[in-house]
Amino acid sequence: MMENMLVTGGCGFIGSNFIRYLLGESDFEGRVINVDSLTYAGNPENLKEIKEKFGDRYVFVKADICDRERMDGLFDEYHPDSVCHFAAESHVDRSIVSPGAFIQANIVGTFNLLEASRNHQAQVELFHHISTDEVFGSLGKEGLFMEATPYQPNSPYSASKASSDHLVRAYHETYGLPITISNCSNNYGPYQFPEKLIPLVILNAMEDKPLPIYGDGLNVRDWLYVLDHCTAVWTIMKSGGRGETYNVGGNHEMENIRIVETICDLIDDLPAMKGKPSRRTLITYVKDRPGHDRRYAIDSTKLQRDLGWMPEESFQSGIEKTLAWYLEHSSWIERVRSGAYQDWIREQYEV
Ligand code: NAD
Ligand code: DAU
Repeated sequence: MMENMLVTGGCGFIGSNFIRYLLGESDFEGRVINVDSLTYAGNPENLKEIKEKFGDRYVFVKADICDRERMDGLFDEYHPDSVCHFAAESHVDRSIVSPGAFIQANIVGTFNLLEASRNHQAQVELFHHISTDEVFGSLGKEGLFMEATPYQPNSPYSASKASSDHLVRAYHETYGLPITISNCSNNYGPYQFPEKLIPLVILNAMEDKPLPIYGDGLNVRDWLYVLDHCTAVWTIMKSGGRGETYNVGGNHEMENIRIVETICDLIDDLPAMKGKPSRRTLITYVKDRPGHDRRYAIDSTKLQRDLGWMPEESFQSGIEKTLAWYLEHSSWIERVRSGAYQDWIREQYEV
């Protein structure tokens, strides 16, 4: 019975969607302790209504997972019976420019949480680690990533995530820590920071700005609506085999250029765009990302067959919902892009 879950990175894109789902829509009846250091990507405004709605069932703690003593202290103070670990530096381009932060947050941070869990092993029923399909490297035209596919990470981001996955697995093998790991494909949906392809293109297209396509635009990603990732994580936490890894994917492979064209066409159809040239005219090919993985595609048969999970959202309905969300949240976008939400954070949390 998980009744007291420590969630890390709960103010980021997927973490905030997960907490909203867990408290509001799932059968979880306990308390969430959200531990987040509020980097540029962490925005407590993403969960603004949650405290009001759920009262004592939601606790926010501003803390850095790289602070080992603090993590141990939080386990002493809040006695979590489970950990769901999202916190990470998540953007590949940033990892190419400044890899150091990724080594700290993704490797050292995960190590600290594992140590805190090991020190409190009597109370920790499960450590669930959120990882990525990028650890498997790059596919050719054929084939899919399986759970047993050897790791071959190509960016500092994916190498740091691969390293954290190995640590989590090792803590199970060596210390018997009950763990599960999920390796998920590209997420999209509400609250995604507009440095990632889909929100970046939506916002630039609305503002007549260039839509940057790296290389030839034919790199392939496998897209999953964020809420489907959340249901997958909760399914794995409840019923996944301890020590097991599960791939999570949407069975929706698409070349980057097709994603961008789809968004352009949806925006062209908006009444506000009447009389304007097609958004496709904004597409601009730019220099490729160094070490750019060509193709990702996930086989999530194990999760579907063994645990009965299925993604619910089609790409078409998911991208329409996502576009609608960004169109309806212009003040969120303004604050996030201007960095003004960092002032809002200081006001709220006196940091
Ligand atoms: P995000 O960048 O939107 O959010 C990351 C969150 O972690 C932020 O709230 C940030 O403040 C927090 N954080 C970062 N460093 C921290 C630290 N040292 N201490 C405490 N908090 C810290 O990321 P996201 O896209 O929501 O990704 C969440 C997790 O899911 C990551 O582990 C990522 O590797 C994984 N993942 C992401 C995707 C995707 O498509 N976005 C796909 C598969 C897996
Ligand atoms: O596969 C899961 C991963 O998906 C997660 O682990 C990462 O945290 C997440 O950031 C994401 O990584 P990607 O590098 O695939 O996502 P991004 O949105 O940065 O890029 C998607 C594709 O679009 C990729 O092939 C690079 C390309 N791209 C990206 C940007 C930002 C462009 O062509 N132009 C752009 O401006």
